[in-house]
Amino acid sequence: YFLGIDLGTSSLKTVLYSEEFKTVATISREYEMIQPHNGWAEQNSTDWIAAVDSTFKELKENHSKELESLMGIGLTGQMHGLVMLDENDNVLRPPILWCDQRTEEECDDINNIFGDEIIKITANPALTGFTLSKILWVQKHEPELYKQCKHILLPKDYLRFYLSGDYATDVSDASGMQILDVPNRTWSKKVCDTFNIDMDMLPKLYESVEPTGYLKENLAEGLGIKHKVTIAAGAGDNAAAAIGCGVVNDGETFATIGTSGVVFTQSDTIRADEKGRIHTFCSAVPNTWHVMGVTQGAGLSVNWFKDNFYKDIEESEIYKKIEEDINKSSIGSNKLIYLPYLMGERTPHLDPNARGAFIGLSAMHEREDLMRAVIEGVTFSLRDCLEIIRHIGLEVDNIYLTGGGANNDSWIKILTDNFNSSIEKIKGDGGTNLGAAILASMACGHYTDLKEVCSKYISYGDKYEVNESNLDEYSKYYDIYQKSYYALKDLY
Ligand code: XUL
Repeated sequence: YFLGIDLGTSSLKTVLYSEEFKTVATISREYEMIQPHNGWAEQNSTDWIAAVDSTFKELKENHSKELESLMGIGLTGQMHGLVMLDENDNVLRPPILWCDQRTEEECDDINNIFGDEIIKITANPALTGFTLSKILWVQKHEPELYKQCKHILLPKDYLRFYLSGDYATDVSDASGMQILDVPNRTWSKKVCDTFNIDMDMLPKLYESVEPTGYLKENLAEGLGIKHKVTIAAGAGDNAAAAIGCGVVNDGETFATIGTSGVVFTQSDTIRADEKGRIHTFCSAVPNTWHVMGVTQGAGLSVNWFKDNFYKDIEESEIYKKIEEDINKSSIGSNKLIYLPYLMGERTPHLDPNARGAFIGLSAMHEREDLMRAVIEGVTFSLRDCLEIIRHIGLEVDNIYLTGGGANNDSWIKILTDNFNSSIEKIKGDGGTNLGAAILASMACGHYTDLKEVCSKYISYGDKYEVNESNLDEYSKYYDIYQKSYYALKDLY
C-alpha cells in the first residue's frame, strides 16, 4: 500500500492506495484561509498538523490491516507558501500562501536589481505568488523575526519535517520559490547572495521520485506500523497531478480546478513565454520541465459564490443545484460577464491588483445567470492559459481533467467547447494524491519505471468532444471578457 497526502489550500486529503493504485480510503479535513487584509492570505501551520494527525487517526481506526504493509508516503500540496522555522524548529509566523498579493513592491525590487537575469536563472519573472518576494517582505517588514529564521520550507515540506524530521524539498515545488536555478535544477547562489538569504536555511533538494527519509517511529507506532516507511520527495500539487493524470510525455496536457485553476503541458526541454505569462518549472518526471498557466480564483470563485448565494440550500444538495442553475441560464449567461480576479490574476495579466467584477448586470438577471457567469468567467481565464501555451508552439488537442471541477458534467462541456480540444476525465480518485502515491512507489523502490506505472495503472473515464457551434458562440463572449480587464485595469 501507498499513501498520497495533499496539503491543499482548503483542505488536507490523505488517500490510501493499493499496490495497483486502487483507492482504499480517502480522508480529508478542511481548514481556514486567513485574510488579515484585502489580498493577503495566510494559514495556521498548526491546522495542517492537526489535519494530518486526524486523518492518520481515522486511517488507523479503519485500515490497520492495510497499514501493516504500507511501503511509502508521497507528499504534495499547495506551492509557493513561506514557512519559516527558528533554531528550535518553531514556526515563526503564520505561513504566507501562494495567493497572497502583498509583495508587489518586493517584486519591483527583484526586477530592478536583476532585470531580465531573473528570468535567465529562475525561468520566470518576479511574481507576487512566488516565495522569494514573500521572504523579502518578511526581511523588510519583520526584520527581528527574520533574524530568528533558521529554516525556510514550503508547505508540504513542513509536513515532511513533521513526519520525518528532514529538511528537504523536490525540484518541482522548489521551482516556484524563485530561488532555484530551474534549467540546472540547483539552488541559485547568485539569487541567495543578492538577497542575503543564507543558503544553509534552504532544504536539501531531490528529484520527486527520490526518497528523503522515513516516517518517525512514534508516528509509525501510532499507525500500528513496525517497519520503516519511506517518504518520497514528492511534488508541488500541479506536478503531482500531472503524474496522477499520466501527463509524463512531451506535449501532454492536463487541466485542474482546485482553489486555483491550472493548464499544464509537459515538456522534455525548457520552454517559456517571452512575456512570462505562464510559468516554466521542473516536472516530477526526472530531468523534464513543464509550462503552466494559473488562474488564481478558479474554485475560489465558485466557493465564494456558493458560500454567499446558496445559503438557503442543504449542503448535500448544493452542487446538484449549481449544475441545475448553470443549465437554466444559457451560453453568455444572458449577456453577463464575470472576471474571476478575486485575488489578483497571474495568467495572462500578472496583476496582483486586479479584482473581480460582474459586467453587464441587469435587473432581469437571476442567480442562475450569475452562477453561470462565474463558471464561464473561470473557464475563459483557463482558456487564456491554454491560448498562451498554444502561442508558444505547443499543439494541444486532448486535455485530461482532474480536481473538483471535474465532477460537474455541465462545466466540463463548457470547458471542452472553450478549449477547442477534447477532454478526458481521470477515473476514480486520480490526480494529485494519486501522483504523490505513484512517486512514493518509486521512492521505496517497489516500482522503477515511472512512465510504465502511469500507463499501466491510470485509467481514464468519459471523453468529451467539442461542439463547434457552441465554440463560435462562446468566442463572442470570450472576446468581451478579454477586453473587460483592459477597460477596468486603471480603476483597480
Ligand atoms: C501554482 C499555484 C497554485 C497552488 C495552489 O503556481 O500557485 O496552483 O499550487 O494549489
